[in-house]
Amino acid sequence: MAQPIVPRDLDVDFSKVPRFWLGDSPTATAISNGVNMLFPHGERFFVRSVKYFLDKIDDPVLRGQIKGFFGQEGRHAKAHDDFNAILRHQGYQIDQFLDGYKRLSTWLEERTPPKVRLAATAAAEHFTAIMAEGAFRRGALDRAAPEMQQLLAWHAAEEIEHKAVAFDVLQKIDPSYALRMLGLAYATVTLGGFWAWGAVTLARQDKITWRSALAEMRTLKDDNPIVRRVFLAGIRQYMRRNFHPNDNDDANLASTWFAAHGMAMPEAA
Ligand SMILES: [Fe+2]
Ligand SMILES: [Fe+2]
Repeated sequence: MAQPIVPRDLDVDFSKVPRFWLGDSPTATAISNGVNMLFPHGERFFVRSVKYFLDKIDDPVLRGQIKGFFGQEGRHAKAHDDFNAILRHQGYQIDQFLDGYKRLSTWLEERTPPKVRLAATAAAEHFTAIMAEGAFRRGALDRAAPEMQQLLAWHAAEEIEHKAVAFDVLQKIDPSYALRMLGLAYATVTLGGFWAWGAVTLARQDKITWRSALAEMRTLKDDNPIVRRVFLAGIRQYMRRNFHPNDNDDANLASTWFAAHGMAMPEAA
């Protein structure tokens, strides 16, 4: 039984979000904002990559899920655009970075075969699903400003809901393991590279030095930091030959959050 995927609107006013909205920590906030800045352009890339193959998918259930995926990612991109406007309002110079990120990623996209773009999307969705699971299981958002808790939990819950869509499309289009691994390499390098670049761009503007960032990270006592949890463990998992996103049973994390926040859960088909 396949779960339909429904887009939900989020109506949050970000204007009161403090500059260091994650646990009053400049470093943790810069790291989180580093990836938040990537979402609008990144998620539109995911949609384009899947849309390219839409005509080749006959399965009505999967087609329905793809439509839901488009609706969810489109809304996430818009919500993060709104949050990027708040970063500007807070005084951050982000447009030089965003222009560079868009130009470089578009340059890469134009030179990458459609199947590799699809494989990269499937892998990137695996990374976002791990981040989403971590947001709920590790209480990562407990220290965030309430508006950001809402934005990131809503986004995380929908990422969990649609985490298998791009992967399932890839399996239908070309189930080759080598292609999946190529997509993993592409997603790892681009997500990791752009994220680090974005975080450093913001951290510099707050005069955060490497030394102060490391000292601050030590006080946070994170026993399983992002690089290890999202990238190293995530890559190892994705490299399993018979991996499927639904191997990680985290659907209840999403449904529990939606129920607690009065957001609709779709009827199972
Ligand atoms: Fe998303
Ligand atoms: Fe996604």
